[in-house]
Amino acid sequence: MVGIDIWTKFFSLMGQTKEGAENNATMANVSDRCTFQYCSALDLPFKDGEFQLVVSSFTFHEVHAPDRTVLFKEIARVLAPGGTFLILDFFAGSFVKMYKVTSVEELLKKVQQLGIEGAKIKPLKETGVDLGIFYRHFWEVDFFSGKKV
Ligand SMILES: C[S@@+](CC[C@H](N)C(=O)[O-])C[C@H]1O[C@@H](n2cnc3c(N)ncnc32)[C@H](O)[C@@H]1O
Repeated sequence: MVGIDIWTKFFSLMGQTKEGAENNATMANVSDRCTFQYCSALDLPFKDGEFQLVVSSFTFHEVHAPDRTVLFKEIARVLAPGGTFLILDFFAGSFVKMYKVTSVEELLKKVQQLGIEGAKIKPLKETGVDLGIFYRHFWEVDFFSGKKV
């Protein structure tokens, strides 16, 4: 497992740091299988088809709007054929406009054009995962998933 982030100053003030990620891996007893590195999701230093699974957690909405197609392209590029991606973020209702599209259907079509099949968006509340009170009552969060052809 390779974890990447640009670990901005803003988020490090809230405790999101590379050291924090390493400590989490140690606490979860998986540090022997995990490495973490500074890099941008817009320019991943990995080979084409290197990963079976790509997961993004609450990073998608942070990336500036014109760059989000690049983000999808990078995910599709580093995935091996048959590999899947899972993005946890805001996609419901008017949130989808953050991704420079007018509807969820348009977003799914764009992703399909990158060689992704079975792209779908599922509300977090339908998955049984509970991230706490804010996500239950105030922020609608979704899982966006798909598979590289
Ligand atoms: C809301 S935090 C989520 C952190 C963590 N993934 C989580 O789920 O707890 C958003 C993160 O996106 C990172 N980020 C923003 N732009 C990025 C980029 N271009 N490449 C990689 N990470 C980025 C920030 O540094 C920050 O750590």
